[in-house]
Amino acid sequence: MPYPVYRPRRLRESPLLRKMVRETTLRTDDLILPLFVIHGRGSREPISSMPGQARLTIDELLKECKDAASMGIPAVLLFGLPQEKDPRGSEAYAEDGIIQQAVRAVKETIPDLLVITDVCLCEYTSHGHCGIVEDGRVKNDPTLDLIARTALSHAEAGADMVAPSDMMDGHVGAIREALDEAGYQETPIMAYSAKYASAFYGPFREAADSAPQFGDRRGYQMDPANAMEAMREVALDVDEGADIVMVKPALPYLDIISRVKSDFGLPVAAYSVSGEYAMIRAAGQLGWLDEERAIMEVLIGIRRAGADLIITYFAKDAARLIEQGRQ
Ligand code: PBG
Repeated sequence: MPYPVYRPRRLRESPLLRKMVRETTLRTDDLILPLFVIHGRGSREPISSMPGQARLTIDELLKECKDAASMGIPAVLLFGLPQEKDPRGSEAYAEDGIIQQAVRAVKETIPDLLVITDVCLCEYTSHGHCGIVEDGRVKNDPTLDLIARTALSHAEAGADMVAPSDMMDGHVGAIREALDEAGYQETPIMAYSAKYASAFYGPFREAADSAPQFGDRRGYQMDPANAMEAMREVALDVDEGADIVMVKPALPYLDIISRVKSDFGLPVAAYSVSGEYAMIRAAGQLGWLDEERAIMEVLIGIRRAGADLIITYFAKDAARLIEQGRQ
């Protein structure tokens, strides 16, 4: 139907018509809010590279979680900072570790909020890598046991879902087996399946104090140039028992989100990471773009690409804007 028979503008003129023909929606139900937990009491330590975000002691975390739940946000994703780091990341799987304590507190106080835990060692290891280091290298198989122990300790504390972000081969299978053996067959796994070695994790590493002390993560995280490899990674995680697969970061990898969504029949999560947040916040603060519109445009773009769920530090802003009808 060529012009002038077909005029796309006919459906664009009125706000009501635009609303009716909208192809993609963003719902508060699609959002997951990541939060950082620290030991201590009564403290919110602002994260300078992520304005508006803070490291929270458990009492402050509870306030934040209540706030999120009251806005209709269904889930939080928790990251912990330990009291002490060591080469084997012991606090990651300690019964009274920061995450284990935080999960128990949140589930007790706000039982209706879903608590997802990030499962990784990098915040807990003195060398800052996501696995066991031997002879200067991150060893895959010896790490699996510790990752599985970490996930199990989170489930025992009451976590509703675990999210392994370490990118070790075989990690989803190792976690599934450990959970099943201990009677947690019903605890889902959201796998960071296609996790790229990204510069956009910079602010997070300041927030979580998890920068590698030597080398980088390219030996286990993916090369930004690769798409077919992402499909292989996702297929592996699905075979090993992943319930939700994740692509991370989101914005530079919309094509991967789209392919994962069309090739696999599983819910897809996209993690709009710390650097994506910092970029928009910074430009917004400088007055270089309209921050609220930019937030909504980015999130709808990630949904349009195929993400069912979005992990975003803007979850509260977005929930507020959705409530105000500002889609
Ligand atoms: C831990 C982990 C990272 C992020 C989530 N889990 C950092 C990394 O891999 O270095 C990044 C999240 C963000 O940037 O918001 N492995």
